[in-house]
Amino acid sequence: MKVEYNYLPKEFEDCEAIIEEWRKLINTTDFTLGAYVEAFEEKFRKAIGADYCIAVNCGTDALILSLKGMGIGVGDEVITVANTFYASVGAIVAVGATPVLVDCDDRFQIDATKIEAVLSSQTKAIMPVHWAGASPDMEPIIEICKRHELLMIEDACMGIGASVDGQSPGTFGNINAFSMHPLKSLNAMGDGGMVASSDTKFVEWMRKYRNHGMVDRDHIEFWGINMRMQPLQCVVLSQGLDRLNDTIEKRNKNAKILDEGLGDLKQVSLPRRLPKNIETFALYMGLFEERDKLIQYLNEKGIEAKIHYPLALHQQKAAKEKCIFDPETLEKSTLQANKLITLPVHQFLREEQLNYTVNTIREFYGKN
Ligand SMILES: Cc1ncc(COP(=O)(O)O)c(C=O)c1O
Repeated sequence: MKVEYNYLPKEFEDCEAIIEEWRKLINTTDFTLGAYVEAFEEKFRKAIGADYCIAVNCGTDALILSLKGMGIGVGDEVITVANTFYASVGAIVAVGATPVLVDCDDRFQIDATKIEAVLSSQTKAIMPVHWAGASPDMEPIIEICKRHELLMIEDACMGIGASVDGQSPGTFGNINAFSMHPLKSLNAMGDGGMVASSDTKFVEWMRKYRNHGMVDRDHIEFWGINMRMQPLQCVVLSQGLDRLNDTIEKRNKNAKILDEGLGDLKQVSLPRRLPKNIETFALYMGLFEERDKLIQYLNEKGIEAKIHYPLALHQQKAAKEKCIFDPETLEKSTLQANKLITLPVHQFLREEQLNYTVNTIREFYGKN
């Protein structure tokens, strides 16, 4: 049996509705910003419950725009977690600031109890990441930000459709970033990103920065760049947003089958699920003994398991010159890099494929 990781062929199997809407868009030649972008910003804003949304080219741009919008740059430190995607740290470096890495907890989320130990006089912001589409413990992070007068920027790139006790990721921080990369919970046909904020003083500046700092065709207020989302992608994403709840529901149902099938194995450690939260399962992760042998076994059996990622960020060569961290404090991120496997969990999997995944792992450990 084959258990595919990539669900995009199914997600975009029938694109007639997209093509039909593209025809209308092509007739308008409204190819940069304009009505389609504004309509998608508004639809997304309502879906997550934010005050303002600004559509950009990708999640990395969303992070960079958020950091720049807060005025973060050279000489500033931003605290984030060591087990995230390159872009969280890359965006901090891109604005000239210094990333400070802290460890994750057993749920693979930034460990809020480790944050205060790395604060310095240069600390300007904390960037919690909604890693894998689950969420960190937000309350203590909000408290730390208040107590030390720090800004918060959420990397909610994997969190579209998730909720933390009823509230969407990307609505807790001052400015927050989302990604619509093809393998997130809401998929562009290429790249897409969004910035959400409730603070008008940040929003007006970011809207202009996204579009060269322009106030009108002939005048700029300051030097900005082009980070604009493509209207063609807005069509794809707007239709995807209509399916989002269904996507999240199916992924959660699938994740439950894996959780229940693997939960009793002593060789497997799954992150604790918080009953008040909903996860997107952008990634379904667990720690597995004999990881490298198991992943080879799974791949041979047709199960396209992956590793996100074999190196934690502090283990990357690039981290040594640009990031502040003490490797001895990053034990869990290191452990995760050594033992982690990501299993297919997407919305198009059939129950028999999930049971096959469970049974193959059990068989590997001799537990039928
Ligand atoms: C946690 C996280 N942050 C940032 C990004 C960057 O998003 P994008 O690929 O849209 O630039 C991604 C995804 O790729 C991500 O998973």
